[in-house]
Amino acid sequence: MRNDIERVLIDEAVIQRRLDAMAAAIDRDFPPGPLVVIILLKGALVFAADLLRRVGRPIAIECLNVASYHGATASSGKVDFLDCQFPEVRGRQVLLLDDILDTGRTLHAVIERLRQEGAVRVRSAVLLAKDKPRAAAVSVEYVGFEIGDEFVVGYGLDYLGHYRNLPFVGVLKAAVVARMGAAGGMAG
Ligand code: XMP
Repeated sequence: MRNDIERVLIDEAVIQRRLDAMAAAIDRDFPPGPLVVIILLKGALVFAADLLRRVGRPIAIECLNVASYHGATASSGKVDFLDCQFPEVRGRQVLLLDDILDTGRTLHAVIERLRQEGAVRVRSAVLLAKDKPRAAAVSVEYVGFEIGDEFVVGYGLDYLGHYRNLPFVGVLKAAVVARMGAAGGMAG
């Protein structure tokens, strides 16, 4: 798996140090009161597990299954809510966690829905934000790292379902992308 990586963009120790600062800011910023953390599956799972163990206040954890990429390396432009039940957020403050901010469509759609469902305060945290214009206007309060506009894997992020368990964020070799794409998503 490690051999498939062209370049490590953000190594494990750097990520872990950054999470200390993000968790401290979250602890400081949210007013007292019930806090629901919503984890966007599956990409934000690893980020959430490491970040939330650093947050010192009581939280409730919910997950949302939202599809926006459908296994390719380019956004489909459409956001689907896949769960049959939406988490109960009425009257509660919400921290939304996602792996990466790319076009902004996913967070935009989820934040809209949270407002419709009656959340009183919604803040978002992403591990990564791509440095590019957003297709959908979205403000994200906590950003781990700004990166260039390239496809990345690891630390929760996948290519065709693989590489989520790499402990760092990296860029795949072009030959690996081509081989796996041609094989219809099978590991090379
Ligand atoms: P949008 O475009 O809605 O995208 O901001 C957010 C979702 O798209 C996926 N995404 C990526 N996944 N490497 C990935 O593994 C990437 O470079 C990448 N860029 C976007 C991701 O699921 C994210 O939640």
